[in-house]
Amino acid sequence: MKIVIPGGTGQVGAILNRALTAAGHEVVVLTRRPRREREIAWDGRSLGPWAAELDGSDVVINLAGRSVSCRYTQANLKAMMDSRVRSTEVVGEAVASAARPPRIWLQMSTATVYTHRFDASNDEITGVVGGEEPGVPDYWAYSVEIARNWERAQERADTPHTRKVALRSAMVMSPDRDGVFDVLSRLARLGLGGPVAGGAQYVSWIHDRDFVRAVEFLIDHEELTGPVNLAAPTPVPQRAFMRALRSAWGVPVGLPATKWMAKIGALALRSDTELLLKSRRVVPRRLLDAGFVFDHAAWPEAAADLVRRARGRSGAHDRRLAPTGSGSLRRRA
Ligand SMILES: NC(=O)c1ccc[n+]([C@@H]2O[C@H](COP(=O)([O-])OP(=O)(O)OC[C@H]3O[C@@H](n4cnc5c(N)ncnc54)[C@H](OP(=O)(O)O)[C@@H]3O)[C@@H](O)[C@H]2O)c1
Repeated sequence: MKIVIPGGTGQVGAILNRALTAAGHEVVVLTRRPRREREIAWDGRSLGPWAAELDGSDVVINLAGRSVSCRYTQANLKAMMDSRVRSTEVVGEAVASAARPPRIWLQMSTATVYTHRFDASNDEITGVVGGEEPGVPDYWAYSVEIARNWERAQERADTPHTRKVALRSAMVMSPDRDGVFDVLSRLARLGLGGPVAGGAQYVSWIHDRDFVRAVEFLIDHEELTGPVNLAAPTPVPQRAFMRALRSAWGVPVGLPATKWMAKIGALALRSDTELLLKSRRVVPRRLLDAGFVFDHAAWPEAAADLVRRARGRSGAHDRRLAPTGSGSLRRRA
């Protein structure tokens, strides 16, 4: 298949690009700064020659949007909203104007669309969309608004020959450098991976290989349209989540952090506490009902697998840095 990935240069794009290329598909990435082969320029805002890539393609997976790993200032929140909504609109315009439109358009959305809750899980049918939770910062409602407008931009696109699916994805855990798993692992290995603000808030997550498999499943399953949760079936409280991660790395302790410590930590990481404190208890009902089977359904096993791969990655990195001609290096290789 020919698969076009607008915004495919980031963490999720790299995971999909690698896996789909390895599976024999032709993958084209749309980026504002093309650097490699099979990367095509676009601005994420207006139609241009890039639209020809979608014409005759099989699948489009739009991931574009200003990174959420930043301080949630007014300017950054506006950029998060505008980049997501506008890029989705313009992908819709390109699909609508294609003579041979792709048969499926997977549009990234987020598990953050659901309400902050502890009492029950959010699935696509009975789950509660957030925005009206009492006692949480105002901008949490704005994050939900971003997600809703993002999905609405896809819903409104007039693309009758293209099946549309919104990917309400939880955090995608992969061993890649600087991804969310890498950042959490660094904290755990520094002994800082304890409960934050009590640690009762749920963490929803998905193993990278299940993420790719779920995307392939959605491409194949013609009956699935609209919002689909991409999250492992077992979200876990943050306290247990970090305990399992520490155990996978063999780190015995993790210092707890209060809410104000999380604020300082988030400032230092140039990130925001919503990512740490919001309880995202999201489950993949539609995928499970359609017969999708997760290879990594439970976090302790998934964490162990990711740690093994991360260790392999550092090993490969160390080997690249080692002097050539070393006997031990040759033996290890
Ligand atoms: N990572 C996760 O676990 C996760 C979970 C749920 C949802 N998501 C969502 O999935 C999408 C991809 O995630 P990611 O982690 O791969 O994000 P990422 O690393 O930040 O990559 C997003 C891509 O969007 C493009 N982009 C940034 N600002 C843009 C703008 N103003 N206009 C057009 N394109 C812009 C960038 O590509 P260029 O700079 O090359 O143009 C960037 O590579 C994001 O929208 C994210 O919110 C991610």
